[in-house]
Amino acid sequence: MLVLGVESSCDETGLALYDTQRGLLAHALYSQVAMHEQYGGVVPELASRDHIRRAIPLLEQVLAEGGLERGMIDAIAYTQGPGLAGALLVGASIACGLGLALDKPVLGVHHLEGHLLSPLLADDPPAFPFVALLVSGGHTQLMRVDGVGQYALLGETMDDAAGEAFDKSAKLLGLGYPGGPAISRLAEFGDPDVYTLPRPMLHSKNLDFSFSGLKTAVLTVVKNRITNICEQDKANVARAFVDAMVDVLTAKCLAALKQTGLKRLVIAGGVGANRQLRDALNAAAAKKRFRVYYPALEFCTDNGAMIAFAGAMRLQIHPDAAKRDYAFNVRPRWPLDELRIT
Ligand code: KG4
Ligand code: ZN
Repeated sequence: MLVLGVESSCDETGLALYDTQRGLLAHALYSQVAMHEQYGGVVPELASRDHIRRAIPLLEQVLAEGGLERGMIDAIAYTQGPGLAGALLVGASIACGLGLALDKPVLGVHHLEGHLLSPLLADDPPAFPFVALLVSGGHTQLMRVDGVGQYALLGETMDDAAGEAFDKSAKLLGLGYPGGPAISRLAEFGDPDVYTLPRPMLHSKNLDFSFSGLKTAVLTVVKNRITNICEQDKANVARAFVDAMVDVLTAKCLAALKQTGLKRLVIAGGVGANRQLRDALNAAAAKKRFRVYYPALEFCTDNGAMIAFAGAMRLQIHPDAAKRDYAFNVRPRWPLDELRIT
């Protein structure tokens, strides 16, 4: 079964073709980062308009790359939510328009399920069950994953998501958008002993997170030095921020493994691309004897491959989940626990 995936929930247009026999055949991505950079964050209206411009050329690109034709597609999976309403509507309308034109069924996919399952696209995928840390721009959650559609929430952020804290702190330091990669690079040059920032909820008895206090602590440091913050000092703050973030994320992952008794940890979402986090988790895994799995770097951040893949996995369980019903609706807010497959 050949599934076309369409991702358009935020500032990346991703198209991909996944075949249940042959695996991922082609994927293509257009990132709008350069366009949004000048505004310091994603401008939803501009995002929607750009998805319209990019989607069909990307479709042609993946078909050519895979040596395939439109008529060979068996089903079309698109990100139905969560995300920016206008941006989601573009992907949904393109997927449903194609479905109608080609007489193929369509299936709405949950963006976070795409992220959660993305490590399964790797050559050496984790077996179920596993603990997943989902760290993206809008979400920070620990889940127990027993199979496709079998997700139990173990803990989540009470306020800002980890990626959001990266982005906001980077902005406070005058770094570009998106802030995660920028602050991570700068932190490499920082002295770890100059600042110590709070590690919110590090010792809480649960698996929840809170990052708004960490961001406020960055604000306080920056404000106190607003006239004379030099490049080295910025790097020191970046280092303190990354150290605090990595400590909290690592400690909560260890606590989740202990609570569930599982030995496999999966990291998904944009912050999963972070080098310092990977180093800390790899070190902990070697010491505590568990295994940690990451998606390929290109599948950490938003992409079409994870949507095609999640759609294909769902269709293998319930072949009639894709429908010839093209009156689409999107779900900008959509709790992951509504996804249970029975
Ligand atoms: O999963 P994603 O691409 O989009 C959402 O679904 O939100 O995640 C984007 C987030 C942004 O906040 C970005 O700053 C962060 O992932 N990010 C990183 C890195 N690469 C992306 N954060 C820290 N270090 C990175 N290397
Ligand atoms: Zn995402």
